[in-house]
Formats: sequence, C-alpha cells, structure tokens
Amino acid sequence: DHGALPPREKWTFSGLFGTFDQAQLQRGYQVYREVCSNCHSMNYVRFRNLAEEGGPDFSESQVKALAAEYKVKDGPNDAGDMFERPGRAADKLPAPFPNDQAAAAANGGKAPPDLSLMAKARTFARGGLWFLIDWLPFIGYTEQGPDYIHALLNGYEENPPKDVTVPEGGHYNAYYPGHIIAMPKPLSDGQVTYPKAADGNPVVPETLDQYSRDITAFLMWTAEPHLLARKQLGLRAILFLLALAGLLYYVKKKVWSDVG
Ligand code: HEM
Repeated sequence: DHGALPPREKWTFSGLFGTFDQAQLQRGYQVYREVCSNCHSMNYVRFRNLAEEGGPDFSESQVKALAAEYKVKDGPNDAGDMFERPGRAADKLPAPFPNDQAAAAANGGKAPPDLSLMAKARTFARGGLWFLIDWLPFIGYTEQGPDYIHALLNGYEENPPKDVTVPEGGHYNAYYPGHIIAMPKPLSDGQVTYPKAADGNPVVPETLDQYSRDITAFLMWTAEPHLLARKQLGLRAILFLLALAGLLYYVKKKVWSDVG
C-alpha cells in the first residue's frame, strides 16, 4: 500500500509567479526549532541562510540571536581541547544526534531523515523528473512533496482500520507508504505559540493544520531556496526559444522564396 493520495493544497509558491511568504517561513522555522529539531537534522542549512531575501528574511540581529540559542561544539583550541560556544550565523543548524546510529537508537531503530531536502526528495519520489519543469503548471503538477508532508503531519489516526495491527514503536498514518511509521505524531493543536499581532490577537490559528502548512512551506524553501529565480529563468528560456523559432521560420521562408 503506497498510502492514500495526499489532497492538493494551495501554496503561495505554486505556479509561475508564486512567492514564498516571509511570515510563514518564519513561523515554519519556529515549528522546526521547537518540534522537529528534537529528532531531525537540517545539515544543509546555515543560520545565515535564514536572513536571505525571498526566504524567511530574518534580520542580521535576529539571526545572531537564533544562532546563539544553541551550543555548538568547536575546537580543538590552542591547548588542543574541544569546547562549546554559542552558535554563530555561519554555523550549520546543529543536529540533534551525533550520528545515524545514535539517531536510530533513540527512535526505535529508525533514524529520522535529514529534512533539508525532504520536500524535493518527496516531490521527486512522487512526480519524477516533472519537477524540473514545474514552472509549466499545465504540464506537471509538482507540489506533491509539500502536499505529502502536509498530509503526513495531519494523517495520524488513533483508531487504525480493524485489519491492521500496529507494532510496538509504530504509528498508523494514512499517507505514509505502508502506513506504519516510526515517527510519533509530532504536532497537535495549540502546541506552538506564535508571536501575536500588535493588538494581541493571533495572526494565524494555532492549529495542527496551520503548523503543518508553515513547516511545509519552510521545508520547501530549504529544499529550493531559489525556486522563483529558476521558474523565471525557465519562462525566459521558453519565450526566447519561441521567438527564435519564429525568426528561423521567417528567415527560412525568405531565403527559399525564389526556389520552387
Ligand atoms: C520521518 C517530518 C518531527 C522522528 C519523517 C519524514 C518526514 C518528517 C517528512 C519522512 C517520511 C517519509 O519517509 O516519507 C517531520 C516534521 C516534524 C517531525 C515536519 C516536525 C513538525 C519528528 C519528531 C520525531 C521524528 C519530533 C521524534 C520524536 C521521525 C522518525 C522518522 C521520521 C523516526 C522515520 C520514520 C520511518 O521511517 O518510519 N519526519 N518530523 N520526527 N521522523 Fe519526523
């Protein structure tokens, strides 16, 4: 069983002119920080990336503060010792476990995979090479990765179908291929407290559905920080090729007009 087909969701980054929503990516980072980072690494992301324009776009001082929340192993120093220091903007996001063996041992035998490229990896697994031309929305539908991650986070069922026995350390999920996943349900309503608007009201609902949209958008950004530039380049390439084809056709007509 490959798992249920994830419902299609609306994403701000879909389509030819989609963009990442800065506030959403900031919330997504918060969800990663408070929840996912307890088990999952993010080895391809450095704190300073969080300040990128078109991404979460945190200010330099915010990034410094986010990095400094962590203790990072460094060294050896002049005396030859390893030591710990507060994180800096140039550091990678620290991993929760020193290696895969330790990660697996802490999670019932299955290491939580690195999340940096997960959105793209799942898009590729589900849609194949179509992701290369996802700026042609009418050809390939290529948000399967984000749709899947969102569905997975919402897909835990306390009462699995009667014919399924859930083994010790396993959890039933409607969307996970094979349905039995080692990851316990990571998110529930009210779990993460988002920054409030100036009037004290929540900006977005603090619900499982909203958290999973936000973390998914964040994971799409870490997997493809230059998504929009790539789409625009793709569009320009197509327009150029169309113009070139027209020109060549016209020239060919002209050059051969005397013959026959
Ligand atoms: C696997 C996302 C939190 C433990 C996964 C996968 C994703 C994911 C996308 C891969 C599923 C697949 O292979 O198709 C997330 C997100 C989290 C989160 C977005 C935060 C909101 C956690 C936490 C833990 C955890 C807190 C540990 C308590 C695992 C494990 C696996 C896994 C052990 C491997 C599952 C298996 O292969 O059976 N997670 N995760 N995750 N996650 Fe998480």
